[in-house]
Amino acid sequence: MDLSQRQAADAILRVMNGATLARALEASGAEATPARAFVREIVYGTLRHWGTLEAIVRELAHKPPGDERLVAILAVAIYQLEHMRAEPHAVVDRAVDAAGDAVRPQAKRLANALLRRFLREREAVLARASSTPVARWSHPRWWIGRVRADWPAHWEAILAAGNEHPPLTLRANVRMGARDGLASRFAAQGIACEPVGEAGLIVAPPRPLRELPGFDDGAFSVQDAGAQLAAPLLGARDAERVLDACAAPGGKATHILERASVELTALDTDGLRLARVAENLARLRLASDRVQVLAGDAAAPASWWDGRPYDRILADVPCTASGIVRRHPDVKWLRRASDVAALAAAQHAMLDALWGCLARGGTLLYATCSVFVEENEAQAGAFAARTPDALREMLVFPPEVEASGGQLLPSLPGARHNQDGFFYARFRKA
Ligand SMILES: C[S@@+](CC[C@H](N)C(=O)[O-])C[C@H]1O[C@@H](n2cnc3c(N)ncnc32)[C@H](O)[C@@H]1O
Repeated sequence: MDLSQRQAADAILRVMNGATLARALEASGAEATPARAFVREIVYGTLRHWGTLEAIVRELAHKPPGDERLVAILAVAIYQLEHMRAEPHAVVDRAVDAAGDAVRPQAKRLANALLRRFLREREAVLARASSTPVARWSHPRWWIGRVRADWPAHWEAILAAGNEHPPLTLRANVRMGARDGLASRFAAQGIACEPVGEAGLIVAPPRPLRELPGFDDGAFSVQDAGAQLAAPLLGARDAERVLDACAAPGGKATHILERASVELTALDTDGLRLARVAENLARLRLASDRVQVLAGDAAAPASWWDGRPYDRILADVPCTASGIVRRHPDVKWLRRASDVAALAAAQHAMLDALWGCLARGGTLLYATCSVFVEENEAQAGAFAARTPDALREMLVFPPEVEASGGQLLPSLPGARHNQDGFFYARFRKA
C-alpha cells in the first residue's frame, strides 16, 4: 500500500500540535521509506499553503469534519491536485484509502464525496474558500496583521514570498577554488547553476546535495544569498580577533574564515548544534588552533570570555525566523504572537552584553532572519539610542539586492538576488 499521503498527513498534524518539521517527519516514519523525498515535498508544500487548504476542506464539508486526521488527509490530496500536477483519480483513490485506514472505514465515503466535489466545483469552491486573510495568505492572522503594520508598502509581497519554493543556493569555499571553477565542475556533470552575490551559486532546478560534486571535499556550503551578505558586512581582516556570538551550525562562521585568516571564537548555547559547527569546520578544511568552538551564553560573557576585546563581533541572534518561512514553513504555524516580545527581550540583553566585549574602534554586526520590525529596526534603533559610544553605520548593499534600510526583503521568483528576509545593522565603537 502507498503510505505517502498518510505519512504526510501525520507529519503535518504533528507540526500543528507543536512539533518541529524535522521531528514530525522523523516520527511519521517517512524518513525511513524510499518515498522520503516525495513525502517531504508534499509536507513542505501543504504547510506552505495550509491556511488555504484547510479553508477549502472546511468549505467543502459545510460543517468542519470532526476528525483532524481527515482534514489533514484531504488537505494533502488537494495540495497534490493543485500544485503537483498529480493524476486526479489516483490522488482521490489514495486519499480515500488513507482516510479509511487512518480515521475509520466510514470516513472513506466522506473523503470520496468531498474530493469529487472539489474536482467538479473547483473554481467556485476556491473563490468561496479564499474569503479570509488566513485562507488568502496562508499565514496566521496575527502574523499577517504584524507584517501589514510593519510594511504597509510591501506586506503583500512579503507574505507571498513566504509561500514560494526557495532556491537551492550554495556558497563556494573560495579557499578551495574560485566560484567559477565550481560552476564548471557542475556544468561538466550537466548541473545548471547561476552566480549570485560574491561567492554564491543558485542550482536550478534544485537537486539532492549528494548529486552535487564537491560537498564532502568542502568545495561549498548550502547558504541563502541573504545570509551570504553577513561576512562581507562584518568585514573581518587577516589577524583580527573575531567573535561569532550565536554561531551554530556555523554557516556564517565558516564564511568569515573563508574570507580572512582571523582568530575566531564560535560561541553558542546549544551543544548539539555546536557539534555541527565542528563538523562544518572540518569538512570545509577550516579547523585550526586559531578557531575555538565554545559553549556559552552570549548574554553572560563573564562565564566564557577571557577579557581580551574582540575586533569584530557577529551577533546573529535567535529570532522568530519570520524571514525564512519559505525554507521552514513549519515556523509560521509554530510561532505564537507572544514569541516576538520574548525574543526581542533576549536580543536586547545579548546586544548590551556583547558590546562590552568589543574593542574601541571595533565593529559589531547585528543580524536576524526576521521581517518583524520589533526584532530589527526597532531593536537596532533602541540600542543606538541607549549606547552613547555605538556609532551606527549606513549599510550599502549591492544594487541587485532588494532592501529597505537594513532589511533585505524576501524575494519573489525572478528576483536578481534571490534571498530570504534578513536584517542587518552595523555599529562601530567610538
Ligand atoms: C540564527 S541561529 C545562528 C545561525 C548561525 N550564525 C549560522 O549562520 O549558521 C541563532 C543561534 O543562536 C543560538 N543561541 C540562542 N540563545 C543563545 C545565547 N543566549 N547565547 C548564544 N547563542 C544562543 C541558537 O542555539 C542558534 O544556534
